[in-house]
Amino acid sequence: MRIILATHNSHKLVEVQAMLASTQWEVVGLDQYPELGEIPEDHDTMEANAIQKAETLFKYTGLPTVADDSGIEIRALGWAPGVYSKRWTPEETDEANNAKLLVELEGKSDRMAQYRCAIAFVTEKGTSTAEGICTGTIGHTLTGTGGFGYDPLFWPTDVPGRTMAQISLEEKNKISHRAAAFAHLPAMLERYFKE
Ligand code: IMP
Repeated sequence: MRIILATHNSHKLVEVQAMLASTQWEVVGLDQYPELGEIPEDHDTMEANAIQKAETLFKYTGLPTVADDSGIEIRALGWAPGVYSKRWTPEETDEANNAKLLVELEGKSDRMAQYRCAIAFVTEKGTSTAEGICTGTIGHTLTGTGGFGYDPLFWPTDVPGRTMAQISLEEKNKISHRAAAFAHLPAMLERYFKE
């Protein structure tokens, strides 16, 4: 059975496909719907953005739809950039965002951070949501070439000695904020069939 994942991000699609690989669900991304442009994400919480994306796509496809919104929260920065993680710099590139993070944390001893992910699952029966968190610390230099976004600066608590950009996709799928949020999806899918 097919569900739509509201993302153009191929990294995310692969991560979620791997998470649901042993289930009956086939997850397809927005690339299957090239006529759909970028879905707006203009709310100020990740949960509201996830709901907005999933509801928009459900209205368009009529298929069960899951959307996520995620970001990084830095304790010493009052949990910024959070929902604005992608748009934190005018360039909106990983390079510029990571450079800004290093500058913002210069001289700060508290380097605690967490990735947060909110998901929304929308069907004709309604909307349900869940969240996941992955904690870690921010390093002083970019380390590793895997992953995306802030991964080369993020040292996850659950994998000591390596950044998120140095671990395999398989390992990331065990500890990531997305994995923690999507771990709720099978129960959400089950509820959809039962009700
Ligand atoms: P999105 O809107 O859920 O795609 O995520 C917004 C931004 O949060 C991304 O562009 C990244 O900067 C950051 N982000 C979210 N998840 C991750 C991750 O797993 N690794 C690194 N950065 C992430």
